Amino acid sequence: MSHTYLIIGGAGFVGSNLVRRLLADGAAQITVVDNLLSAERDNLPESPLIEFIEGSITDDRVLARLDDRFDYVFHLATYHGNQSSMHDPLADHENNTLTTLKLLERIKGFGRIRKVVYSSAGCTVAEKTFDDAEATTEDAPVSLYLDSPYQISKIIGELYGNYYFQRHGVPFVKARFQNVYGPGEVLGAGRWRGTPATVWRNVAPTFIYRALTGLPLLVENEEATRDFIYVDDIVDGLVRCAMQGTLGEVYNLASGRETTILELAQAIVRLSHSDSKVQLGEKRKWDHSGKRYGSTAKAQRELAFIANTQLEDGLRNTIDWQRANRTRIEACIQRHKEHMPS
Ligand SMILES: NC(=O)c1ccc[n+]([C@@H]2O[C@H](COP(=O)([O-])OP(=O)(O)OC[C@H]3O[C@@H](n4cnc5c(N)ncnc54)[C@H](O)[C@@H]3O)[C@@H](O)[C@H]2O)c1
Repeated sequence: MSHTYLIIGGAGFVGSNLVRRLLADGAAQITVVDNLLSAERDNLPESPLIEFIEGSITDDRVLARLDDRFDYVFHLATYHGNQSSMHDPLADHENNTLTTLKLLERIKGFGRIRKVVYSSAGCTVAEKTFDDAEATTEDAPVSLYLDSPYQISKIIGELYGNYYFQRHGVPFVKARFQNVYGPGEVLGAGRWRGTPATVWRNVAPTFIYRALTGLPLLVENEEATRDFIYVDDIVDGLVRCAMQGTLGEVYNLASGRETTILELAQAIVRLSHSDSKVQLGEKRKWDHSGKRYGSTAKAQRELAFIANTQLEDGLRNTIDWQRANRTRIEACIQRHKEHMPS
């Protein structure tokens, strides 16, 4: 696939995995725009086909460097994640909402682009329930009472995309991710964003790190469930959204399988042969997402997308990757030590 690509947030966890996949598929050229807010430069592979622009997509000088030469655009930039956005809603606005608006304003007249794929989040539409969950479909209602500025920004990105699609014909497709895990997620990557969540990004890499270092795994809500999807599957889904997605549409990228946080912790301890203890803690007060998983029907029907990786296989790969990248991960975590509560 000898295409040219623009990836906003391409040095991040999902972005860097997408870059590797596109290079393997024969990309002609990839431009990455990333301000390294929650990423490391060395996440990106070295390749003469990659142009790296370090800066924010809200910066007019960065935008001026982007002209009408891209076949596909992937917009993955975000202010990572829920807790940082609650700590600093304005920073979230700058890096999670304004990013989408300024990108769309810049590219709205470009004639070459075939698709703009936007990474949205399944947590914005899932019903907030601790009763048995039903698979969240793409047309599920969006709550007007979301849990964080992050979630608000993600859904506003969808709304802006829909507007630019209808008004300006921007070929916009939305991919709603469930909880992504896998190699390439560096704990502590990027700059301090005001809370320990800068280091403890997501539950799967955090539990793996703690299991590998003998620290206890704290399960804040044992009955809560999530739909964990391996990063290679997410990348496959993003490529399918770009190549086959219908303009203006939204697709869940989900495994369709529900796993409790307690089951995840126990699986990680077992697979990493760890002596770490699993401790049950208090429920997170801000988080009203109880049990949830995504419906896979539409993406399977329209994109032939199936998340093939079984959770245990994906976790084994992620454990191996963390073992092999321990020095890099420790260096990033150490950078935030002065801010972290002891
Ligand atoms: N990982 C998940 O479980 C998950 C779940 C749902 C949705 N998503 C979405 O997927 C996308 C990728 O997530 P990720 O897990 O790779 O996160 P990430 O933090 O690793 O990647 C986000 C990237 O955006 C960059 N960025 C932030 N502000 C920017 C700006 N102003 N200009 C340019 N770049 C900027 C960051 O430096 C980082 O490289 C995000 O949009 C996220 O909201 C992720």
